Amino acid sequence: MATSILDAYQTKQEEAREFDGRKLKVGIIGTGWIAEAHLKSYEKCPDVEIVAAADLIEGKAEAFCKQYGHPEIRCYKSHKEMLDAEELDAVSVCTYNSTHAECSIYAMEKGVHVLLEKPMCITLDEAVEICRAEKKSGAVLSIGFQPRFDENMKMVKKIVQSGELGEVYYIQTGGGRRHGIPTPFGTSFIEKETAGLGALGDIGCYSLDMVLNAVGYPKPLTVTGYTSDFFGHRPEYLEKPEYVEKFGVDDFAAAFVRLEGGIILDFRIAWAMHMNTPGDSLIFGKEAGLRIPSTDCWNGSIGGPLKVYHNVAGICVDTAIPEARNKGDNFDKKIRSFIDAIKFNLPSPVPSSQIIYNQAIIDGIARSARLGREISIEIPEI
Ligand SMILES: NC(=O)c1ccc[n+]([C@@H]2O[C@H](COP(=O)([O-])OP(=O)(O)OC[C@H]3O[C@@H](n4cnc5c(N)ncnc54)[C@H](O)[C@@H]3O)[C@@H](O)[C@H]2O)c1
Repeated sequence: MATSILDAYQTKQEEAREFDGRKLKVGIIGTGWIAEAHLKSYEKCPDVEIVAAADLIEGKAEAFCKQYGHPEIRCYKSHKEMLDAEELDAVSVCTYNSTHAECSIYAMEKGVHVLLEKPMCITLDEAVEICRAEKKSGAVLSIGFQPRFDENMKMVKKIVQSGELGEVYYIQTGGGRRHGIPTPFGTSFIEKETAGLGALGDIGCYSLDMVLNAVGYPKPLTVTGYTSDFFGHRPEYLEKPEYVEKFGVDDFAAAFVRLEGGIILDFRIAWAMHMNTPGDSLIFGKEAGLRIPSTDCWNGSIGGPLKVYHNVAGICVDTAIPEARNKGDNFDKKIRSFIDAIKFNLPSPVPSSQIIYNQAIIDGIARSARLGREISIEIPEI
């Protein structure tokens, strides 16, 4: 169970402070927006040394390292150049989605452990290739879902796994924003060539992970998917009007997914819509139901106390679960757990064996939307 694995990390994190002193050599691939969070979390690990960084854009890695006070970090023009030149223990792949697969596969082929930002990649085919490279290399591969470390998210899983809900048969999940197409530092989230997927990949992967992780990641069987882009072509929805020309992904997606074990998953996600929320996430079990209040914008936590709806001695009872406080930062925990998995030979904190199902659903939604019909999901042998 992932909950107990995460508990194990807590113990291991204590032990990590007594490590023998050898620092793990880490490189950062892609020095854009999210790379800062990786760098700052690695800085908090006394057993890690960031030795290299790479970015395709001339001078970007150098400027990044200088800005964050690390002129000593060696900079390269691509992931290949960096991985060929350096003896690294691990890399963070912080590139836009379209290069997730090539960067992580190249790193693992060199025996380098990989922390890969979310979504895992764009297509199921890429995810399969990533998993094959991981299997062949024996490297640790963890996917960057920091909400996994949020105490309330963990509680969602604990409630389901406790058996309180009984057998789960229906899930509604999703989330989104009324007005929130992300272009804070340019257009890599909205261009087809760099992002490949819009809201579906960006925040859809989180909503799927929250509920799939809670119910033990059953295999997806069929998908009826829908995607649209009614907002990304309107200048008032973008940071700069000229971004309209660049917009090439979905800004809304919905789906009906059949999962192994007879669970039905009803999903919707939006970067923009004429609605405040596409609804709370709901998990229906035969003995009780769980409501996970939605947030205004997906932020990896809950929009209010979790509520369990059940029947006690014939009376309908609603039980609010007190909101848990997080100790420490979830992003730091995502980095720390990756490092500990490498050092202590622990299982990957957010394993590809689970996230490939997340990616298969995303890929299935995109494919079904293109074809305009329900499709079956086939996942090849890894
Ligand atoms: N976990 C989170 O909270 C979180 C938040 C934001 C973004 N992300 C994810 O992080 C990833 C990056 O997002 P971002 O906003 O930082 O993007 P960004 O466009 O700001 O930065 C990506 C950088 O990667 C570089 N790059 C691409 N391919 C490369 C290669 N082969 N070698 C070297 N550099 C390469 C690009 O030149 C660019 O500078 C995305 O997949 C996104 O979904 C995660």
